[in-house]
Amino acid sequence: MTNIIETKNISKQYEQGDLSVSALNDVNISLSNQAFAALLGPSGSGKSTLLNICGLIDKPTQGALYFCGENIADASDKELTTIRRNKLGFIFQGFNLVPVMSVYDNVEYPLILLGVGKKLRRERVTAMLETVGLLPFEKHLPDQVSGGQKQRVAIARALITQPRLVIADEPTANLDTQTATDIINLMYTMHKDFGTAFIIATHDERMSSHCNIEYQLHDGALQ
Ligand SMILES: Nc1ncnc2c1ncn2[C@@H]1O[C@H](COP(=O)(O)OP(=O)(O)O)[C@@H](O)[C@H]1O
Ligand SMILES: [Mg+2]
Repeated sequence: MTNIIETKNISKQYEQGDLSVSALNDVNISLSNQAFAALLGPSGSGKSTLLNICGLIDKPTQGALYFCGENIADASDKELTTIRRNKLGFIFQGFNLVPVMSVYDNVEYPLILLGVGKKLRRERVTAMLETVGLLPFEKHLPDQVSGGQKQRVAIARALITQPRLVIADEPTANLDTQTATDIINLMYTMHKDFGTAFIIATHDERMSSHCNIEYQLHDGALQ
C-alpha cells in the first residue's frame, strides 16, 4: 500500500539575515490511509514547519517529500495547488474562516475552487453541515457562532472535498476543555466515517486515546 505522505531525511533552515535557524533536522515520517497521527512537542520544536511541508505550503531545505508515492520536488506551483485543493484539508488553531462569508459559504468554497456544479455543491454542503451539527447556523457569519462551532465549520470545510489527508495545527488550543473534547471526538468520527487520514499537532493529551501514531519533536528532531 502506498503511503499518503512520506518524508525522507527532511531538514529545514530559515535564513534571517546572517542568522540561520534550524527548524527541522533529518525528519522521517510516513502516514498511511489509516493514520490518525499526533504530532507532539513543545512550542518552537518544529511542528508547524513540518505540517507546512506536509501540506505543500513550504519546501524542505534538504530531503524529499513523497505524496501518494510521487516525489514532489519537481512539481510546479500549479501542480502543488491542484494537489492541495483536491487531496488535502487544513484546520488551524485560529479557525481561519473568511469573516464576510456565511457558515454555508465557507464550507462550499473549496468545492467552487474545484469547479463542482451548484446542485451537487448544495447537496454535499447540506449533508456536511448536518454531519457537524451546523445546519441551523448555515446563514450565520463566523462572528455569530461560538469558538467550538467555528472549528466545526473549519472541519466541515477541510473534509468537504473528501481529501486524502487532513492537516490540523493545534486545533483545540483556543477552545475550552469540553469543547476541545467534542472537537477531538468529531475529528476522530470523521476519520473513521470518511476514511480520511489526519495528522494533528497538539499539546492535548486527550488526543492520545484516539491516535494510532505519535511523533514527538524536540528541537526539530524526532525523538
Ligand atoms: N518563517 C520563519 N522564519 C524564521 N524562523 C522561523 C520561521 N518559522 C518558524 N521559525 C523557527 O523555527 C522553529 C520551529 O518553529 P515552528 O515550526 O513554528 O514550531 P512549533 O509549531 O512547534 O511551535 C522555531 O525556532 C521558530 O522560531
Ligand atoms: Mg506551531
